[in-house]
Amino acid sequence: MADLPRHVILNANLIPGGTLGSPWRRATKPPEHFTSIDHYLDVARVAERGLLDAVFLADSPDVQAKDWNSPSRLLDPFVAQTVIAAHTERIGLVVTATTSYNDPYNLARSFAALAAVSGGRVGWNYVVTGGDAAARNYSLDAAPPKSERYARAEEFIDVVTALWDSAPAGSIVGDKASGRYLDPALVRPIDHDGTFFRVAGPLKTPPLPHGRPVLIQAGASTHGVELGARTADAIYSAHVDPTSAMDRRAEIRRRAADAGRDPDSVKLLPGLIVVLAGTEAAARERERELIDLIPDDVQLLNLAERLGVDPALLDLDAPFPWGAIPDENTDAGSRGQRAVLLENVRRTGSDTRGAARLLASGSVHAKVVGDAQQVADFITDWFVSGACDGFNLMIDELPGGLEDFVEQVLPILRGRGIFRTEYDTTSLRGHYGL
Ligand SMILES: Cc1cc2nc3c(=O)[nH]c(=O)nc-3n(C[C@H](O)[C@H](O)[C@H](O)COP(=O)(O)O)c2cc1C
Repeated sequence: MADLPRHVILNANLIPGGTLGSPWRRATKPPEHFTSIDHYLDVARVAERGLLDAVFLADSPDVQAKDWNSPSRLLDPFVAQTVIAAHTERIGLVVTATTSYNDPYNLARSFAALAAVSGGRVGWNYVVTGGDAAARNYSLDAAPPKSERYARAEEFIDVVTALWDSAPAGSIVGDKASGRYLDPALVRPIDHDGTFFRVAGPLKTPPLPHGRPVLIQAGASTHGVELGARTADAIYSAHVDPTSAMDRRAEIRRRAADAGRDPDSVKLLPGLIVVLAGTEAAARERERELIDLIPDDVQLLNLAERLGVDPALLDLDAPFPWGAIPDENTDAGSRGQRAVLLENVRRTGSDTRGAARLLASGSVHAKVVGDAQQVADFITDWFVSGACDGFNLMIDELPGGLEDFVEQVLPILRGRGIFRTEYDTTSLRGHYGL
């Protein structure tokens, strides 16, 4: 592969309607538009026009408090990305799929098929999924303990990658003379016999000429970080300040090296909420308006869910109930994400309503609110200082906010030589410089 200019990785996190508040409430398109594939395609086309690395679809198999007031996560990400693949040429396609409530053979096959039909543009964001609501959709009363979900994830990923490797690139011989289509010497069983899975293999799949789908890990506890450093090509994380991202990146690179990997082969991609307008004051007003669109009861449910507490214990008009917050060893919620929120609530001395607004304004993720120059400076500073390799962009309002980003921010980044001027690779692995 030709030498790639070093560029900042930028994924568009496709949260239907946008990340902040309830943007669909003030959109000119009807509410049902935001659960339609047309909306996904609108966003993907803008992202591809901007030469972004990937369209990223988060997902979990349950309906959460935030789903009551937003069209989030309603389309199955495999189906959505398959349609996006057919309507785009180059942009990467990331599907989030949980290792806790899936089967490795099925998932390996679906990803291999999406890789085949998209020409190697696929990434798998693997998560272990918190919360009992998801578990109850899979014949369980409650989620298994997080340690068990991560133990299962470890084995799950080993099985999936072994299955992908079980039908290597040269395995189709297609010899018309002998009639032999597959080479039986290359398509091999994996004979996996572990704690959670017994899988014979090989995978029934077309080969993967662009290599394995890109592996992305999201989950901020120690176990999650360890797993990411051992197995992932990229890590989706949440940081509010560059120092914490820098520390995480250093930790991941160190752990990757300990696991015998090249530290440059693991990219750190924090979430970045973007609120862009003509001036900083206009951007702040835009942010306030979007958060005001979330009803009080939904703000309260969201907060309870994130903190892992009973909603009845929370009152938006009361002081923050520090005594009711479970200790950090609880299984509820994402330990990493809750820790960041609590740190913010403590730092700002917020009451319960303030905490709910902090959460609604995306407090666990980095955020930039400003004009195009300020947004470009933010991205440049984090990237150039080594805090991260790129970002999962969480645009406040979609697709309009992404159009503004593509038209106003990307030219500044290109002028600084840190973002591509054309796609020079065809696969997601290539885009990420892996
Ligand atoms: C940045 C980030 C993004 C995440 N995205 C998802 C997601 O889309 N779907 C999901 O089920 N879980 C997601 N998770 C959560 C974890 O998989 C899940 O909550 C699990 O319990 C992780 O715990 P941990 O963060 O304490 O390691 C995400 C976690 C982080 C840190």
